[in-house]
Amino acid sequence: MASYTLNINNKKLKVEAEPDTPLLWVLRDELNMTGTKFGCGKALCGACTVHLNGTPIRSCSMPVSAIREAKITTIEGIANGSTLHAVQQAWIDEDVPQCGYCQSGQIMSAVALLSKNPKPTDADIDAAMSGNICRCGTYVRIRKAIHRAAKSMK
Ligand code: FES
Ligand code: FES
Repeated sequence: MASYTLNINNKKLKVEAEPDTPLLWVLRDELNMTGTKFGCGKALCGACTVHLNGTPIRSCSMPVSAIREAKITTIEGIANGSTLHAVQQAWIDEDVPQCGYCQSGQIMSAVALLSKNPKPTDADIDAAMSGNICRCGTYVRIRKAIHRAAKSMK
């Protein structure tokens, strides 16, 4: 066991974990931040997506010892107090989720996309979101919601 101080959603949080423990399990089991989901555990589905210094990463495959000073953002950290992030609001307005399981990861990838590319084309969206699998096939609504969020963020 080792002790780590992680910067998560702008808070310094102390955790004890084995160095090779994936960030996903630190978030879910140690910090009770269960918005980030476990899907495949092999960096293949995107359900566990969080941001590392603003870049989407698969937290199931990121050892806690590799985080160091990096800034982690999770689905719990993207709203501004009680005001939802524009992407979250667009997800509600377009009624995107079906079972919902993949959607935290989808939203985190969409937020990262829009922070780098405020006016993505369909092709940009498909490229940025291709690592996020949805078994319920909500892809058309996801694309619409990203366009909607892009407009509302102007
Ligand atoms: S659970 Fe991490 S990519 Fe599937
Ligand atoms: S909404 Fe069910 S897996 Fe995406």
